[in-house]
Amino acid sequence: MARLGIRRTAERRKKIVAALSVFLEMYTAVSAFILLMASAASLNSYRPSTRRYSLESYPKREYVRRILNNNESCISLLRMNLQGFYKLCEMLESLGGLKPTRNIAIDEQVAIFLHILAHHVKNRVIQYNFRRSGESISRTFHKVLNAIMHLQGHLFRTPEPVPTNCTDNRWKWFKNCLGALDGTFIKVNVSSSVKIRYRTRKGDIATNVLGVCTPDMQFVYVLSGWEGSVADSRVLRDAISRTHALKVPHGCYYLVDAGYTNCEGFLAPFRGQRYHLNEWRQGYQPTNPQEFFNMKHAVARNVIERCFGLLKIRWGILRSPSYYPIKTHNRIIIACCLLHNFIRQVMQFDPMESELDEFDPAEGEMNLINTVDPSDAWTN
Ligand SMILES: *[C@@H]1O[C@H](CO)[C@@H](O)[C@H](O)[C@H]1NC(C)=O
Ligand SMILES: *[C@@H]1O[C@H](CO)[C@@H](O)[C@H](O)[C@H]1NC(C)=O
Ligand SMILES: *[C@@H]1O[C@H](CO)[C@@H](O)[C@H](O)[C@H]1NC(C)=O
Repeated sequence: MARLGIRRTAERRKKIVAALSVFLEMYTAVSAFILLMASAASLNSYRPSTRRYSLESYPKREYVRRILNNNESCISLLRMNLQGFYKLCEMLESLGGLKPTRNIAIDEQVAIFLHILAHHVKNRVIQYNFRRSGESISRTFHKVLNAIMHLQGHLFRTPEPVPTNCTDNRWKWFKNCLGALDGTFIKVNVSSSVKIRYRTRKGDIATNVLGVCTPDMQFVYVLSGWEGSVADSRVLRDAISRTHALKVPHGCYYLVDAGYTNCEGFLAPFRGQRYHLNEWRQGYQPTNPQEFFNMKHAVARNVIERCFGLLKIRWGILRSPSYYPIKTHNRIIIACCLLHNFIRQVMQFDPMESELDEFDPAEGEMNLINTVDPSDAWTN
């Protein structure tokens, strides 16, 4: 009986192998045919710069092909023009260690990743659009995220102090200033046992992200991961004392708001004086030197608010709680900041900047501080 069984399975295996090899031959013939058809069809749209990444024969690439067909669709879906997109692919491959897989070329991997960041679409939707399995989308997302994290040294900016001959009306008052610094909340999804620590004063579940930017709105340093209930000043204390610390060269400083202490390297406005941009915009004139200082301070420090504004306009994933665990989300936040810098470096005009003036970061309450500042050397 047992022998018979073995012989039978052996025969079955033989049959299957025979059937498979016929199928394989047919499959090869058919795919060669498809390949031929597709390359004929894509000749018209052949562009040399895309050649390196093309698996144009692959029918599943239909959606990527459509996105990468012109600047408009590329900007609206991936937030950068074609030139920028291919440059990013190149950087991720050569510096970030991103590798193509047998079926998914680098450009498609990057497109999947950017599409998720920009529009915060669910894995299911991406599966449908790109015609890939959920597992494959998820693997791709993490691969590209890792590769982007490798670009930190290339994409974070090294700040330069405002020179003495600066003519920019916002910055010329702040010689040796490096830029501005502030915190922003980004909503996250955490388990209910730790929710309380992530609850902000407004009741959102969020992480408190410290961002530091240059006068031309590029990030110098970003620290993500502190719970929403933690005060800004504590996050800053951590930032300047950790291994990869925010460093402020001697004699240089960043502008900070009154939530931080005025100290070496960080210049805060005078307390107990008017300090809010909207008031100056409404035509209110400063009545003393401290108010005048605060006015200039508020105007210049506003770059960091605009930077955060742009970041959230650009990347939908930062506007609502993500489906990703908090640890991943913190890396996503860093990746968004790096890509923000990248876009501002490679594109002549930031495509999102025109939307910034309509964007309300949901603050704007008067920022009048009522306590009196203890005067110290730095204040002077
Ligand atoms: C895309 O935009 C860039 C920069 O504006 C331009 O140089 C390039 O020719 C455009 N490419 C296409 C395909 O429209
Ligand atoms: C400021 O001075 C530096 C050299 O000291 C010069 O290279 C730069 O062009 C000057 N900038 C302006 C705006 O005059
Ligand atoms: C938040 O995370 C939990 C698991 O920790 C998950 O079950 C839930 O679906 C997530 N919420 C959203 C909106 O993705």
